[in-house]
Amino acid sequence: MRHAVTLIVGLLVGIILSITAMRVLDSRKDAYPEALMNVIKHELIAANKAATQPACNDNANALDKLTLLSNDIITAMPDEGTPDRVFHQYIDNLHGKVLAASQSDCTQRKQALTEVKHACDDCHRDYR
Ligand code: HEC
Repeated sequence: MRHAVTLIVGLLVGIILSITAMRVLDSRKDAYPEALMNVIKHELIAANKAATQPACNDNANALDKLTLLSNDIITAMPDEGTPDRVFHQYIDNLHGKVLAASQSDCTQRKQALTEVKHACDDCHRDYR
């Protein structure tokens, strides 16, 4: 009985220490890349909502913000050592699609935003 209690207490202490260690390691991780991606996601949702409005009015400027945010991807996730051409290509591609969406007329807006989403997925397939 005493051994069982010791074992259980030992296990519990072990679990608590592991959780603490994981938290400490996690807090050292740079929050910028994930934070940027979450804001980008938020703006893409806003742009899609605006596209469903009459005259597809984008009065929250979601597409302008997406243009600026896509410029920040390389700042948030810099190349380590030699520049990664494929990664840069995906960023350029996203940039182009966002620009095309912001210049599209209302009837084309939803389709243009779908292409933006595909540009996100392309990079995620290789790098996420
Ligand atoms: C050039 C590459 C690239 C492009 C383009 C890109 N992403 Fe990402 N995304 C990443 C990488 C890399 C991660 C993983 C980041 C990490 O976990 O640190 C990621 C992660 C994410 C995440 C998860 C963040 C989290 O909390 O873990 C979301 C949401 C996301 N991206 C949304 C988007 C959306 C929406 C777009 C398009 C508008 C987009 N991304 C375009 C590279 C990209």
